[in-house]
Amino acid sequence: MGKIFRVFDTPELLAEKLSSEIQTAVNEKSGSFFLSVSGGSTPVILFKELAHPPYYKNISWDKLELFWCDERCVPPDDKESNYGSVDLNLLSKVDLPEKNIHRVRGEDDPNKEAVRYGMDIEVSLPKGKNDLPVFDWILLGMGDDGHTASLFPGQSLISVYSNIAGVAQHPVSGQKRISLTPDVLNNARKVTFMVTGKNKSKILSEIINDLPGSSAYPSAAVEPLNGNLEFMIDKEAAFYL
Ligand code: 6PG
Repeated sequence: MGKIFRVFDTPELLAEKLSSEIQTAVNEKSGSFFLSVSGGSTPVILFKELAHPPYYKNISWDKLELFWCDERCVPPDDKESNYGSVDLNLLSKVDLPEKNIHRVRGEDDPNKEAVRYGMDIEVSLPKGKNDLPVFDWILLGMGDDGHTASLFPGQSLISVYSNIAGVAQHPVSGQKRISLTPDVLNNARKVTFMVTGKNKSKILSEIINDLPGSSAYPSAAVEPLNGNLEFMIDKEAAFYL
């Protein structure tokens, strides 16, 4: 059976809808809301939308515990930093308490940081029956090679801490990354892929339609145990669907 997807005319309309759903989800949950976001260029429009009315005021930011699905092993002020992108476009504009920002310390030794970040997640989040941490919502992107977070095709994480976070290496640039593990992604209560652009449409259509060979893509391996998976895509990304 194919995967659930929603198509939006533009990335802006997608970001508006997703921002509204994030606001509802955070505000309606009693207690802390554990969200993990991805990096790259796609979600920037979402971060900007969340920093604007009505969301920047209406979201109960003090309830939000913010984590990252992956991070490049660079300092936070590096243009490559996923934290840096969220800080520039969102965190610097809203009242999310510092203690709720669980950034990956990209400036530190990757092996040690995978342990530290994994432990931060371990002590912060509730656990599932499998004793792995449960995020309320994980927002993923997808590379045009089918990777997600920093889970690249044909590659396994190294220096993995407690099956929560590990070290990856970008297959082209060689850049070290810290990434959540596939099992943590699949332990979330909800996973949403945000995918825009025609360059991703071919692989996306293979994954959404479960075509033969698509299982080689790490994005295709994201199948939350509770089944709550969706794709929010723009018309460009839906071209081959
Ligand atoms: C990262 C991301 C990564 C991203 C995809 C898509 O650190 O790069 O977490 O998984 O979601 O590479 O990136 P774009 O949105 O830039 O296409």
